[in-house]
Amino acid sequence: MEVFYIDDQPVPFEKGEKILSAALRAGLEIPHFCYHPALSVVATCRMCLVDVTDLGNGRPAPKLMTSCSTDAMPNMRISTKNEKVQEGRELVMEYLLVNHPLDCPICDQSGECTLQDHSYAHGTGHSEMEYNKRVYGWRDIGTFVQLERNRCIHCSRCDRFTREITGTDEFGMFNRGHELTLDTFSDRAMTNHFQGNMADICPVGAITEKEFRFKRRAWKLRKVPSVCTGCSTGCNITIEHDRNEVLRLKPRENQDVNQWWMCDEGRLTYQQMNEREQRLAKPMGRVKGKLLQVTWQQLYDAVADRLEALNPNGEQVVAFVDTHSTLEEMFLLRRLLQEVFSSDQVFYSQQDWTQPESEFFIETMITTDKAPNQAGARLLGLKGSQEHDIISVMKSAKLLLVLGNPFINEQSLLDLAGTTELMVHIASRQSEWTDRADAIFPGQNYAEKEGSFLNKQGYWQRFWPALRPSRHVRPEWQILSELLHMGTATPVQQTLQFSQVFQQMTSIEHKLFGNLALEKLGESGISLADLCQQSDTLAQTA
Ligand code: SF4
Ligand code: SF4
Ligand code: FES
Repeated sequence: MEVFYIDDQPVPFEKGEKILSAALRAGLEIPHFCYHPALSVVATCRMCLVDVTDLGNGRPAPKLMTSCSTDAMPNMRISTKNEKVQEGRELVMEYLLVNHPLDCPICDQSGECTLQDHSYAHGTGHSEMEYNKRVYGWRDIGTFVQLERNRCIHCSRCDRFTREITGTDEFGMFNRGHELTLDTFSDRAMTNHFQGNMADICPVGAITEKEFRFKRRAWKLRKVPSVCTGCSTGCNITIEHDRNEVLRLKPRENQDVNQWWMCDEGRLTYQQMNEREQRLAKPMGRVKGKLLQVTWQQLYDAVADRLEALNPNGEQVVAFVDTHSTLEEMFLLRRLLQEVFSSDQVFYSQQDWTQPESEFFIETMITTDKAPNQAGARLLGLKGSQEHDIISVMKSAKLLLVLGNPFINEQSLLDLAGTTELMVHIASRQSEWTDRADAIFPGQNYAEKEGSFLNKQGYWQRFWPALRPSRHVRPEWQILSELLHMGTATPVQQTLQFSQVFQQMTSIEHKLFGNLALEKLGESGISLADLCQQSDTLAQTA
């Protein structure tokens, strides 16, 4: 690869690449506002000015150049720190702040605002402006975001987003010069399902998320990498939380899955993570028809006694699993049925899923399968509901295990659950299954535990705990491990770690998971097809 030089440091670049793009890839900092790697280059903010001291032909550029729109050339030499550049940046900052209000104390963007950061780093701290600032009214522009036009610096990222990323084109820039402003067309609210991304890419607090407004200062938030459970796309996200409450979800860049984006429906799943009213908070057992709170040990003992009395054969044991369950949980449930009851009757609700076709990538992201792990259930060989007559299977069931809240709209299955001799419900939230259960094991929601999902493309991704769970609940992988070892000579140690369960799964199912170590899964996941190809190649060369 050919190189050019920024402040005497060599920077490799691809033919046709711009200076800023190559610099950012090399981890170098050049301040900018309007440039975004997903959008066309407009070079309007002028913040990325650099001094090209040698164009690569021994001659300097006649004036400061915008690095976002200038082609990198072999042996070009660039200064980003000399006096000329600093003066240029100071002038640009002063111009951008001419009409910008002193809103930082009440602005949600404060603490993560590029204008604030660049103003500290590159501004002069004072202004020559002697006139009143231009003032616009507040605009309700969409279902998910709000526009505060006075704060806008006219970088046009939002305008380009609706034209180039969603293709909906319902938002744009109006007027010119001093009167330049933004709005929706014909006074209509925006309808695209990806408005939250406009708040993400707006470098200032002009577009903000309605859900997050005035809830928390940005610097209070702690961030944990995770995966969206809103549909089978499995967008990479960050859970942002404070004081054991999730405040918002933000997309994490993964070019193989969601690029830079996520949808508004996915962002709203943060509400489920904070939900308390429907939580299953304590272990419960049915005594003389009434559900009573019991200890974990009492519950395990009662289930063991009941199973001993029932002594069901393989055909009399059925399990239903929610496709919101993790791969590890599905694996353990399948193992429990196979090893303890010699049954392979683990069913999941099979959804026919579709996704819209569009020339815009983002429009193809949302699928109709509103669960993150149907592909995982299929991979592990669980039985899809559409392929099997579950009702006839249920008629001979003595033991029913329900993990999560699957088939919640199937009244015939709910009715048949009442006729089984023993029904065990393992879940974090109450549902119709809870009303019918004899034993209730309270689990953790996915913001509280570790796990992994397989998305619609066969991309294997893990997530980490963000919230601190109540001490009365346990992760489902632990409950299933305890049930698996219940009554055996080797009960599960209280110190069982998620990494051990993961290791069990990948080594027992090494053909599916290539014996992968947990730490190798990383924050951006791995394509299962690529992994299996790699392990096949390794096996062949061994
Ligand atoms: S609202 Fe934000 S993203 Fe849009 S032009 Fe203004 S500053 Fe840029
Ligand atoms: S497209 Fe699906 S996975 Fe991505 S953010 Fe939306 S609901 Fe979540
Ligand atoms: S980032 Fe180059 S002009 Fe805005």
